[in-house]
Amino acid sequence: MLMLFFDLTKRSYSDKTIHMKSNNSCIVAPSMLSADFSRAGQGICLINESNADWVHLDVMDGSFVPNISFGPKFIKDIRKETSLPFDTHLMMSNPDILIKEFVDAGSDYITVHAEACTHLHRTVNTIHQHGIKAGISIVPSTEVSSIELMLEEIDLVLVMSVNPGFGGQSFIDFSLKKIMQLDAIRKERNLDFLISVDGGVNANNAQKIIDSGADVLVVGTTFFHSDDKKGIVELLHSCERS
Ligand code: DX5
Ligand code: ZN
Repeated sequence: MLMLFFDLTKRSYSDKTIHMKSNNSCIVAPSMLSADFSRAGQGICLINESNADWVHLDVMDGSFVPNISFGPKFIKDIRKETSLPFDTHLMMSNPDILIKEFVDAGSDYITVHAEACTHLHRTVNTIHQHGIKAGISIVPSTEVSSIELMLEEIDLVLVMSVNPGFGGQSFIDFSLKKIMQLDAIRKERNLDFLISVDGGVNANNAQKIIDSGADVLVVGTTFFHSDDKKGIVELLHSCERS
């Protein structure tokens, strides 16, 4: 039997720049959570036409968060509608049980919550063994220090700037401190994980989020409630680090 050996002492897939942009503008990742699910294909079309970079997919299980959104079949069904990277955010308890299904559905990144994983190192390795990129997310009340040991192993840190479960909430300002902490560690230890921010991101706070060190802006309401989706993406792309 062909055994695929991975060097687990370091990340199996170190090419994290695969989805970075050619210029140094931020990555804009509209969240399908805020789309009209009865017209999901049109939602993807709007993202395609807006010059956004990624599609953010908020998976909610009603256990880890007090809401339920969609699962692997929804993601598989929309996969054929776009070639943009799928940034799958698993807001679920015990994500290990469905990692393969979310990989097979077409995810390029799978981000799990540190608070939902008993064996986070093993979960991250499992994602990498499937040949895709691994992210760790922390909710607002979780300190950066709790995932510091994992920062060399992962491709992305997702800082939740709202309490997860619903779109349309207000940005929690102390998230900026966490973004700055992560950026400082990244510089100090010469690491290259991406910093993504999810929740309450809008045209008014995007620049200070980028200035704090973020690379990826997840936008649900700001994107899907905008009449000028191309314009909002252009504005967010213009928020380069000062
Ligand atoms: C919360 C979700 C939301 C969503 C973005 O669990 O993860 O943060 O992606 O929604 P907005 O941009 O409306 O806060
Ligand atoms: Zn999310």
